[in-house]
Amino acid sequence: MISVAIDGPSGAGKSTLARRVAAELGFLYVDTGAMYRAIGLYASRRGADLKDESAVGALLPGIRLRLEYQEDGQHIYLNDEDVTAAVRAESMGMAASAVSGHACVRAFLLQVQRDMAETHNVLMDGRDIGTVVLPNATVKVFLTASVEARAERRYKECLQKKEDTTLEKVRADLEQRDWQDTHRTEAPLRRADDAVLLDTSAMDFEESYQALLDTVRRGAGI
Ligand code: DC
Repeated sequence: MISVAIDGPSGAGKSTLARRVAAELGFLYVDTGAMYRAIGLYASRRGADLKDESAVGALLPGIRLRLEYQEDGQHIYLNDEDVTAAVRAESMGMAASAVSGHACVRAFLLQVQRDMAETHNVLMDGRDIGTVVLPNATVKVFLTASVEARAERRYKECLQKKEDTTLEKVRADLEQRDWQDTHRTEAPLRRADDAVLLDTSAMDFEESYQALLDTVRRGAGI
């Protein structure tokens, strides 16, 4: 099996780019952020303190996550409810970042993610795929961009989704998530030593897509 690990900070365009590269190569695209977001959604709905590991851990036995692949891509089901759209809200990114710091949450998702890579050619995106989940991945990419570029892109997406926010707020949220994701003790976001660094700050979407596709093709010899 071929596995491609794509890690990087929030808003670097990982999911949009990875989804398209996976479709081009006929690989299964696995958005691991959606799994953390679904746990964040469940814990928020239950009114749990997201920073409290034992409170979040106590909820895990009540959570069943299922990924399904439909014509329009990956759908995520939380206890049989399709939460694909609900988990995309900006507030769920922050909730995911909070719950993802807990060892019990990471252990809960680790095996599911590894199993997918054992049975399919995958392109998996997240924060710890090249460092923890798939340390022997065929290709590893660390996809990043400056905080200015990421905030601009994220803000445009929010406008399209008609989310009520400002560029300053989007940027502050990104900086906070960068800090949380890189400073946690459990599987913090960092570039694996053998990951190819791809900085898309000065690239538009098409250029970023071509650069990622070329990097994956070259690394996997396909
Ligand atoms: O990629 P995303 O924005 O959907 O991820 C949401 C949060 O989930 C992110 O801030 C950190 C966490 N996450 C993680 O810790 N490990 C992953 N493999 C994927 C996401």
